Amino acid sequence: MTALLPSAVAAPATTGRRTVSGMDPDPGWWRDAVVYQIYPRSFADGDGDGIGDLLGIRSRLPYLADLGVDAVWLSPFYPSPLADGGYDVVDHRDVDPRLGTLDEFDDLVADAHALGVRVIVDVVPNHTSDRHPWFLEALASPRGSRARGRYVFRDGTGPDGAQPPSDWRSHFGGSAWQPVGDGQWYLHLFAREQPDLNWDQDEVREDFLTTLRFWADRGVDGFRVDVAHALAKDLRHPLRSQPHLDTRLPLDGSDPLYDREEVHEIYRSWRQVLDEYDPPRMAVGETWTPTNPRTYLYSRPDELGQVFDFSLLKAQWGAASFRDVVTRSLAEQLAVGGAPTWVLSSHDVPRHATRYGLPPGTDLDAWLAGDGRAVPLDAEVAARRARAATLLMLALPGSAYLYQGEELGLLEVADLPADRLQDPVYERTGHALKGRDGCRVPIPWTAHERAFGFGDGEPWLPQPEWFADFAASTQEGRADSSLELYRRAIAQRRTLRRPDPVRWLDQVDPEVLHLARGDWHCVVSFADRDHEVDGELLLTSDRAGEQDVRTADGFVLRPETAAWFRR
Ligand code: NOJ
Repeated sequence: MTALLPSAVAAPATTGRRTVSGMDPDPGWWRDAVVYQIYPRSFADGDGDGIGDLLGIRSRLPYLADLGVDAVWLSPFYPSPLADGGYDVVDHRDVDPRLGTLDEFDDLVADAHALGVRVIVDVVPNHTSDRHPWFLEALASPRGSRARGRYVFRDGTGPDGAQPPSDWRSHFGGSAWQPVGDGQWYLHLFAREQPDLNWDQDEVREDFLTTLRFWADRGVDGFRVDVAHALAKDLRHPLRSQPHLDTRLPLDGSDPLYDREEVHEIYRSWRQVLDEYDPPRMAVGETWTPTNPRTYLYSRPDELGQVFDFSLLKAQWGAASFRDVVTRSLAEQLAVGGAPTWVLSSHDVPRHATRYGLPPGTDLDAWLAGDGRAVPLDAEVAARRARAATLLMLALPGSAYLYQGEELGLLEVADLPADRLQDPVYERTGHALKGRDGCRVPIPWTAHERAFGFGDGEPWLPQPEWFADFAASTQEGRADSSLELYRRAIAQRRTLRRPDPVRWLDQVDPEVLHLARGDWHCVVSFADRDHEVDGELLLTSDRAGEQDVRTADGFVLRPETAAWFRR
């Protein structure tokens, strides 16, 4: 394969697009960064076993530096049976042998830093794998033992304890309780293979502080915290009824499972550890709940500093909904002193280009369950809107979290064969939901090589033929490609960033959003007709390119395009 270029990594001075003299020394770099999420199994396979790995990631660092990202966030690469794609961790302080070694991790961090790219790793504190030594010990130990106390074991209810201890449901379908055969059941908010830890135990708390130190000592720059809002649970007897998961949170911290007040104390203790480092390590929490004012509390400066705001991702394509989301999110963040975050795609949701290319109101779960055949996707609309949304996201203050492949304009793979699906959601919902594999298909790097340059082996998920059209090599150097748009936008963002707050300006048409930070303006058209805008055009998402849309005093903003300009 042609992907491996470790020698290119060794000489970091120039990326061709920007000159790198080491990393930005600003300890607050993460407040306004472009962070690129890598789902390691699906990014690049360096050893040809069909599973992406650290060697593969290392080989692609020059590509990422060239893209201009400030940091990469690595989804879990720890030893794991992969019951939930690595979010079922056996050892939080090691590397899965299929993905590499600790030495290779150190090399990756060194190379990334030499290229000016920081490294964020995932911490998965709510649960472990059911093969974690602690859980194996718990299974082999009697009820009431210290080993069982690290998890959430309870006696069953009903005659003979044959019923689960409560009505709590797993996020992936079915009961959140699994019997172990001696009358006791253990809690798993996700898959059966992911038993929940008991954060009332000091040993559990201490162990995660050790994990934070372990990776911070190895030079990682920050942490993404999985299911950050679920650690503190009300486990008093009797367990309170809560059958609806976190979709209808009471919003006062009184839910037995999610977003309790006590959880914030945990992150205050984490912040103390993260601040022992120079520069202090950043952290970003994942709280996948309906976004509400409490969401932002995790980003308080004495806690994580940042929390994912998924409201842009959840917003329907439309001027009013996008503007509402941005306005609310900025205000809420400001109120707590945290740094804003923006996300359009991740490894957990159908890719945003696909979402935008389907008619409004399409039930995505049903669409995927039908292999994407029920409703046709308009690929032109998908690309147009995705490009415009990118310019909006990158114009906003705060950090933009990109998901691997979105810079290629990649679409969801909707028709993965059922017998290849690996997301536990598929089995746990009795095949009603297909799950998240469609956004996890290995990345197409080149159009004509085996596995589109992903690696020499058979990829763990099959790639469709149309991936050739999206391959990085196909887009490289093509001015109208998605990849080149991302490169240019990220590079320009670096120089255009202003400390000024966002100002909304009125356009004649309410279907055109117009915001400015100082003299840097961004317009996004949700309208169905052209608009003339005055100003010095810097960048357009319009595939026609700047030359074609420029006018004497400004430029033409065509439907579903966005532009950056100075005025
Ligand atoms: C959130 C992660 O993003 C998702 O992929 C995972 O399945 C759950 N947390 C459980 O760890």
